[in-house]
Amino acid sequence: MKGILLAGGRGSRLYPLTCVASKHLLCIYDKPMIYYPLSTLMHVGITEILIISTSHDIPLYQRLLGDGSHLGLKLEYAVQEKPEGIAQAFLIGESFIGNDSVCLILGDNIFYGHAINQVIKPTENHIDGAIVFGCWVKNPEQYGVIEFDGEHNVIGIEEKPKFPKSNFAVPGLYFYDNQVIEIAKNLKASGRGELEITDVNLNYMKRGQLRVKPMGRGITWLDTGTPEGLLDAANFVATIEKRQGLKIACLEEISYRLGYISREDIDKLIDEMPESDYRQYVQQLFKMEHLKAQTIPPSLMEHVKDQIELQNTKNVG
Ligand code: G1P
Repeated sequence: MKGILLAGGRGSRLYPLTCVASKHLLCIYDKPMIYYPLSTLMHVGITEILIISTSHDIPLYQRLLGDGSHLGLKLEYAVQEKPEGIAQAFLIGESFIGNDSVCLILGDNIFYGHAINQVIKPTENHIDGAIVFGCWVKNPEQYGVIEFDGEHNVIGIEEKPKFPKSNFAVPGLYFYDNQVIEIAKNLKASGRGELEITDVNLNYMKRGQLRVKPMGRGITWLDTGTPEGLLDAANFVATIEKRQGLKIACLEEISYRLGYISREDIDKLIDEMPESDYRQYVQQLFKMEHLKAQTIPPSLMEHVKDQIELQNTKNVG
């Protein structure tokens, strides 16, 4: 399965923060925003990823992430000159997707939770149809909103409805089979002049090929497209990281835990990092691992490994 990370758009709701650079480069506490959706794709097990942004911003992403090989990833870049809708990603990414299925994530969507990969990762490698999620929110009118019938079947999705038919919003994480390219090609621009992702989902629904999975309370979904959203996300990440001493979306750590890069590779990456809290964190992971090997019961080690999380030895027992 291929991954597309959409990091385009003008970020107009964040003006003047976005005057010189794309919003997905803004900081969410201690990392650029794009680290978070990228880490989500990594948790799903996707290694071939197309980053779509403007021609102005792509060189900046290339400086930040390169070709991804240092993280065991294969990153490619493509230009979306004008923000003409999320579904345009499948037209821009047509040759990149090839005959594969694809997971699309929006660059300003953050997902966090225990065993997140088990919640979001499809069980099958080549999915049939589409999988989207339903997430309970207080302000559904700002999102794509799911409508259910009396038997809990999905009978509609409305984009930013004035009068939402439920509190279940569709977050910016979508899985599609290869039909998505043809579907995107046949879309008509909406009233706001965009190729809407909601229309893609409705198309699958009408074919009887849309699955909506609940994203329960164990997963936190944050949307960082407004100044308030940015601040909330930064506070959220800071609170968790300070409490646990474990970083969210540390790409080097995730890559190492997934077995994409070796201990030696990570040592080289540490050498290239300037003295910083981030560098110290990555360095300290190995000190903890060494201690863990001596003091933590194997059952717990397995658990830790499974969840791609590191348990600080001080918190155990
Ligand atoms: C987009 C989609 C919407 C989805 C949301 C998730 O909204 O159109 O269906 O619920 O992302 O973040 P936009 O970012 O265009 O407001």
